[in-house]
Order: sequence, then C-alpha cells, then structure tokens
Amino acid sequence: MDQGHDAATQPVDSRRREGLRAAVRALYDRNRQTGHAAWAGRDFDFVCPSHVTYPFQWFWDSCFHAIVLSHLDPSRAESEVLGLLANQQDDGFIGHVVFWQRERFEATVADYSIAYRTRWLSDEMQPPVLAEAVAAVARRGRGPEFLADVLPRVARFYDWCRDVRDPDDDGLVAVLQPDETGLDHTPKFDAYLGIDSEDHDAFTAAWERVAGAYDEVGRQPEAMFASDAFVVEDVMVNTIYAENQRVLADLFDQVGDAAAAAEYRSRGDRTAEALRTRCWDEGRGLFFDLAGNDERRLDTNTVTSLFPLLLEDTDPVVVARLVEHIRDPGQYGAAYPVPSVAMDEPSFRPATVGGKLVWRGPTWMNTNWYLVRGLRRHGYHELADHITERSVALVEQSGFREYYDPRTGEGNGAPDFGWTAIVLDMVEGTER
Ligand code: GLC
Repeated sequence: MDQGHDAATQPVDSRRREGLRAAVRALYDRNRQTGHAAWAGRDFDFVCPSHVTYPFQWFWDSCFHAIVLSHLDPSRAESEVLGLLANQQDDGFIGHVVFWQRERFEATVADYSIAYRTRWLSDEMQPPVLAEAVAAVARRGRGPEFLADVLPRVARFYDWCRDVRDPDDDGLVAVLQPDETGLDHTPKFDAYLGIDSEDHDAFTAAWERVAGAYDEVGRQPEAMFASDAFVVEDVMVNTIYAENQRVLADLFDQVGDAAAAAEYRSRGDRTAEALRTRCWDEGRGLFFDLAGNDERRLDTNTVTSLFPLLLEDTDPVVVARLVEHIRDPGQYGAAYPVPSVAMDEPSFRPATVGGKLVWRGPTWMNTNWYLVRGLRRHGYHELADHITERSVALVEQSGFREYYDPRTGEGNGAPDFGWTAIVLDMVEGTER
C-alpha cells in the first residue's frame, strides 16, 4: 500500500532518540509550574505551554503534555490530567485555560482575548483530546486503578460536548468562537468572519463582535447558537471528537463497563459517519468545515482538511486522495512537512504574520502527530517515517518552538513550547 517517499528517509536512530528524550525531560522541568492556588484550595503541578506567553494550564496543550509525560514520569502525567479535571464545572464543561497562578502574570493576561467563566477559568472549549491523554497516562501508569478514578469525569466532559455543542444532533459538535478550534487565526475562517486583512486588530475586532453578541445573551449556549455569530462544525475538532469517543469506549472496556463502552463507541461511529457524509468534498478530495446555522461549507485548504485520515474506518480510496495532497510539493509536501495551510492557497504564510497571527501556514507538531498516526493506521509507514524524521530534525535544528517555517525549518512563535515535545511520542510509537 505504501508507495514510499521520494527522499529516502533515514530512521531516527537510538542516538537521536536518546538526545530527544533528554531534551524533552529538560524542557518539561523548565516549564513545570507547581504551587498552591488559594482560590481553588488546591496544589497544582502542570507543564505550561511557554513561560514567555502562556504560563497557565491550557486544555489541549495539557493533554499533549500528559501524553509526553506518560513516557517520562507517570505520576506527573497523572497530575497534569487531574489539574484539568479539578476545575470541571457541574455541567461537565472544562475550560480551555485554568489561571492557577494568575496573580503572578496579570500583565500577560492583559494581552489575551479570552471569554471568562470565572476570574480563574475560561468559558471556551478546545479540541477534546482528553480521552487520548487519559489512555496514554493509564497505559504507562496505574492502568485500571487510574481509570476507575477519572473515567466518570472524563465521560461527563464528552456528554457536555454532545448535550451542549451538538444541538442539531447530527453527531458533529460546533465551536462558537474561532479560538475554540485551537487554530486561532487560521485563514479558513477569514471570509466567514468578514476579515480581509492580515492586521491583528482586524482579528481582535472580529472576535470581539462574536464575543459581544454572546455577552448580550449572557453566554447561554442555546442563545449563543441562536445568535448565529460564529457556529462552526470543524473537521479537525470533530475528527478528534470521533476518535476520543472511541478511545473512551476502549477505556470503559478496560474497566469492564460494556454498556458505557457500547454507548461511546456508537457515538464515535456516528461522528465519523457525519464527517464522511457531510464534510467530504469528492471533487477536491478534501474535508471541509460547515459554518453557520445553515451549514455552508468553508473552502480553504488547510491541514484540518486532511484530518479524517486519523480515523480507522476512513475509506482507503479517500485516504489515498488525502495522501496525494500530503505528498504534493505544491501543497503539503514541504521540506519540513506538514504546513498548516496548503502552500498553494493565496493566504499561505510560512511564518508569523501581522505581528502575532498564528496557524496561517507554519508547521506545527501536534497536527503532525495526528497525521503520522493516521498514516500508520492506514499502512503508509514510509511517509509516516519521513514526517517523523523531519519533525525530529526541526527540534534538533531550531529547538522546541511553537511552530516552524515549512520551507527552511526556522523556528518561530513562543520559545520552549511544550506540546512540540509530542514528537517524542511520534518516535517512541503509540497505539490506541
Ligand atoms: C495558541 C494556540 C492554541 C494553544 C495556545 C496555548 O493560542 O493557537 O491552540 O492552545 O496558544 O499554547
């Protein structure tokens, strides 16, 4: 099935692997945040995305950090997950940022555009990577004992996703603000948001328009949906949602709860099916998001259009078409793959734009992690090895940066960036 890659890739040998492991260990010591939060009456112990710009606990960052920590220190990996669960709300929601040590960083917070539920918690979601994180932590740690402790809370989070974020009950969850995708300034939302410049202020104004409409209705979910200010069924978020409901099902199997396992498996299957039937564009051979309550298809070719490659039941013919895009040197086949926007899109930019606009073209490690796993599941091992080797090379050349120039490998964005270390899981190998 694997047709190989033009450039013969040297596998990552044990010397490079050991070097990477040591560098990740040192990074996770540097980015460790520990202390006592009086507001929560609780100690915290987590890895922050970056000391410079992101000193707090971010949801999907933390899930990736927990997966990395599962290879280094199972007890710290548990703390990372427990820190997220500690602030779960009664409705099952978990905010995308926990400001544990906020008082130390008020100046940093002044720069953020975030909706708050409380002074210490955001009122936004992020891609639901939680079950995958819990699976990794359980697998290399205390197994069923840890699962028995956390699974009811993890399941409540996925119930919140379904009950609150899928009001049309089509199996796809919607995000209500662009940054809920974790892809803050991705060009795929430009037209929908009415943005036609690369000026950071234009984004802030558009985000404030959305948040303002929500403030008017007291941020009540039904009313936020009804206001139709920004409703997107995002392909990446929903691929992660489908996969994680299936992972949750596997975890329930491990603790002997067959009924819960069957329930989440069927929910995951439904999400995967909805992606296939609603988001696949046969003509272009890519998946696209649905925007607005009338569900118009967005049409910018970004890395998220490739994401259903991750799902085990994606048709091999569809997978082959996605792989063509990844190999294409005009689109995603960069020297340092995989760029976050296809290089032939007019909006593609290889580095930071407008001062601090992110996700408009550079290569990010978390999306590589997902794509590599999808490639392996579907038998494209040589291409997976190639992307893995190039990913390790990025860190060796430029350090753990937030993102990289796909043509030169130059590092950009925040330094000492936590989830870039997920490359360790790519070389150590992982399976659900
Ligand atoms: C940026 C990213 C987002 C991430 C956050 C913290 O906002 O777009 O995905 O969670 O930084 O690293």
